[in-house]
Amino acid sequence: MSSTEVQTERIVAPARNILGSLRLPGDKSISHRYALLGGLAAGKSRFTNFSSGADCASSLACVEALGAKVTRTAEAIEVEGVGGVFTPSSNPLDCGNSGSTMRMLAGLLAPQQGSFTLIGDASLTRRPMERVRKPLSQMGAEIELTEGHAPVTIHGKALKAMDYTTPVPSAQVKSAVLFAGLQAEGTTIVREAVRTRDHSELALRAFGAQVERTLESVSIVGGQKLQAIEAAVPGDMSSAAFFLCAAALFPQSNLIFDGLGMNPTRATLLDVLTALGAHIGVLNLEDKHGELVGTVQVNAPADGLTGTTISGALAAQLIDELPVISAIAPYTKNGIRIRDAKELRVKESDRIALVAKNLRAMGAEVEEFEDGLDVPGGQKLRGAVIDAGGDHRIAMAFSVAALRAEGETVIRGAESAAISFPEFFDLLDRVAER
Ligand code: S3P
Repeated sequence: MSSTEVQTERIVAPARNILGSLRLPGDKSISHRYALLGGLAAGKSRFTNFSSGADCASSLACVEALGAKVTRTAEAIEVEGVGGVFTPSSNPLDCGNSGSTMRMLAGLLAPQQGSFTLIGDASLTRRPMERVRKPLSQMGAEIELTEGHAPVTIHGKALKAMDYTTPVPSAQVKSAVLFAGLQAEGTTIVREAVRTRDHSELALRAFGAQVERTLESVSIVGGQKLQAIEAAVPGDMSSAAFFLCAAALFPQSNLIFDGLGMNPTRATLLDVLTALGAHIGVLNLEDKHGELVGTVQVNAPADGLTGTTISGALAAQLIDELPVISAIAPYTKNGIRIRDAKELRVKESDRIALVAKNLRAMGAEVEEFEDGLDVPGGQKLRGAVIDAGGDHRIAMAFSVAALRAEGETVIRGAESAAISFPEFFDLLDRVAER
């Protein structure tokens, strides 16, 4: 959030139950990739159910500034791509709050001709960018950072393919290297120890590129051209996470999601909720441009959620869901222990510190570790003033915790939900019985 923006407060009252059916706006990660690759491709792409969040609007605005033609209507977003060659913009490209935009765009622009500067808001300017500069430089890119951070200045150069093993599990870094590899000479290979979300691989294929995959690597031959597509973006599982966790708290709950993105690299929360005792039903699975989409039903266990440990690969795969999992942890019987999640400290906020602070504000006991949290179960929370810290997922996670608290909760900085999910509070009011 910029320092001039006004913070809004939202009061969340406790609920008696969660009931209803929802069709959620398009997945943020997929929308970014469709915007960026549609911007590079030849021809006019058309996307329905494109993410309504401010982050994906940043990706669209950037490709627009780079020469793509973007048309926004109530039904769809159309992107007429530049056919492989972006026009350097004399103004800096504003990535807003979006790490995905900045990191993936760096990969897309490093092999282009001309100079480009990527900037972001205060939160994005604090986030680590060396993780993309390093591999792209190894391919021959010329990228300047300020002490490892944005602004990111790229002087486009012809790149050479490389074989890269990602040091931290990061789909954004993997994507940056693949997007550069698409335009480099030779075959670029990315290897990862933990398989992160694979939307870039699927989107590249949807736009006509050949991408080879093994269990631990992805490779792409440089010099391939992308062609425009028409696509409906699946509902966002990471947005559904707030409602899935809310429903899991109420024994009489029944919540159904239609058209929800069920990509296996994104659906780990369903396994966690099942392990906690919730009943999850999945039906009508369909493949849309390689992305699985389906109907999901959640019902809570009659006698409360149990507890679990999330560590190792699971922590990486659940990285965006950990704030809401932590926020409902006090209401479980045995508590939730999170480890190997140090990456949470370099998200839109330090999510470990902010989750701990806000849980404590609600009266919970919680222990903070460098790479995680221990949240004991069997706790009662009371309504409190929550500091969202300009972080959309913190604002929404604590709105969910508020549903089972005693008394009302004030979410300070509630406007940040609009980064990924502007409809969040309205939909919460729709499904929460008070
Ligand atoms: C994303 C990857 C993840 C995730 C972020 C979106 C993506 O970040 O936390 O919200 O769309 O590729 P990292 O790549 O930094 O893990």
